[in-house]
Amino acid sequence: MPAPNIDTIVSLAKRRGFVFPSSEIYGGLGSAWDYGPLGVELCNNVKQSWWRWLVYDRDDIEGIDSSIILNRLVWKYSGHEATFHDPLVDCRECKSRMRADKLEGYFPEGNTQAAFDANARLRAGLVKCANCGSTNLTDERYFNMMFRTTLGAAAAEDDPSALAYLRPETAQGIFINFLNVQTTMRRKIPFGIAQVGKSFRNEITPGNFILRTREFEQMEMEYFVKPDEEHFKLVDEWVELYVEWFKGLGIDAANLKLHEVPEKELAHYSKRTVDIMYRYFPERPEEERQWEELMGIAYRTDFDLRSHSSKATDAEGNRVNADSTDDLSFFDESTKQRFYPHVIEPAAGVNRTVLAVLMDAYSEKTNDKGETRVILKLSPQLAPIKAAILPLAKNKPEIVGMAKAIKRALQPVLRAVYDDTGGIGKLYARQDEIGTPFCVTVDHQSLEDEAVTVRDRDTWEQERVKVSDLAEHLQKRLKPYPVTPPEPV
Ligand code: GAP
Repeated sequence: MPAPNIDTIVSLAKRRGFVFPSSEIYGGLGSAWDYGPLGVELCNNVKQSWWRWLVYDRDDIEGIDSSIILNRLVWKYSGHEATFHDPLVDCRECKSRMRADKLEGYFPEGNTQAAFDANARLRAGLVKCANCGSTNLTDERYFNMMFRTTLGAAAAEDDPSALAYLRPETAQGIFINFLNVQTTMRRKIPFGIAQVGKSFRNEITPGNFILRTREFEQMEMEYFVKPDEEHFKLVDEWVELYVEWFKGLGIDAANLKLHEVPEKELAHYSKRTVDIMYRYFPERPEEERQWEELMGIAYRTDFDLRSHSSKATDAEGNRVNADSTDDLSFFDESTKQRFYPHVIEPAAGVNRTVLAVLMDAYSEKTNDKGETRVILKLSPQLAPIKAAILPLAKNKPEIVGMAKAIKRALQPVLRAVYDDTGGIGKLYARQDEIGTPFCVTVDHQSLEDEAVTVRDRDTWEQERVKVSDLAEHLQKRLKPYPVTPPEPV
């Protein structure tokens, strides 16, 4: 049973130290969130799982970490300065401001790329306000979503030579480093470059907790292939691999579905995009409104490498980039051909993955006394704490000493905590609610038989384990993490 709605997770996340509203003591900052002690662990575990799966388990992917602030020209030639904007409308009735292209009636029916006049549709009353349903909306106007900043202490705010942006996607840091990585790591096509890091977008309508925020984290990978590869098929292959990865994180396949992005909604660089959607809104009666994008897999063609290249030309033979000092083409020794590799891009959000994982892990169970307990059935690889060491009597120094020693001994092997801040029932309930797979209880008998009780979070079953075998016992039950390393495509 997943969480019935996002609000249930918002409340759990705040109560148990996963996520807090940002700047709360100053009234908050619209849709900004801070990750608490357990949230930061969960995010790190998601990122580590992803990195291990792509960069370590495969032999064809390298990792990088590029700057957040890049030369402004990167965003000129990537097309973001000219096209990374959303259409904005205001409702004259309820005064809400929203993204026009997300509103009912904005696009004509059918998957057609034919140009249409959005303002004519707005004026004809075909488009509905998402808040109050009115069709009394303003004309649309475009709003660039990149956050602007100025570089240098002496720069005036409107000095165009000092203008810079916070990156709206991590991908461009990969493209501009393509040659650096390819040559230093002596890579041949196909190979990929992965990066995880913060991105920033001045979203018009952020909201729904950590689903849409202005500052978020992405896990992106650009997979460079030959121009003559079967690109559409490669998109499908990566979609399949990612669905398996999400399932390995504990997400039920029934809460995932694929969405072929219609041509008219494709980003400026994409020839094809398939989104993997998650059921973030199970409470909505209409099935089609329950889903939101978890990640996208796009076929970006050679758009980005060509756009950043000094020698690339357009159909008329004119250089597409007058500023770049390098050519990001690849010379294939085996065929003696030079080409701009094409790219398949799986782009996932850390925060949306964390939200999906939390929603799917949420469950409730009733105990013998008829009390309902929350159990967060996180996949053990993602659980912020793997084992909680609990003394049955906190006023017995020998028991406390033994419990603390067990915690210290386990720590180098797995994340363990010691807790004596309540009765054993309360301590179990607290660990269940934060997803700790195992509670290890030290009792009076432990002092004699050098054994402890290991309690399973999901079944509440208990077994006695020798302290000398404990680390191995827990490790065995935590491993292997349930993702099968995929074959290279
Ligand atoms: N480089 C391609 C790219 O950035 P995208 O679909 O715009 O594609 C990829 O973003 C993923 O990043 C999304 O599927 C989502 O998981 C995450 N993401 C995008 N905007 C976000 C936002 N405002 N808040 C949280 N996550 C976001």
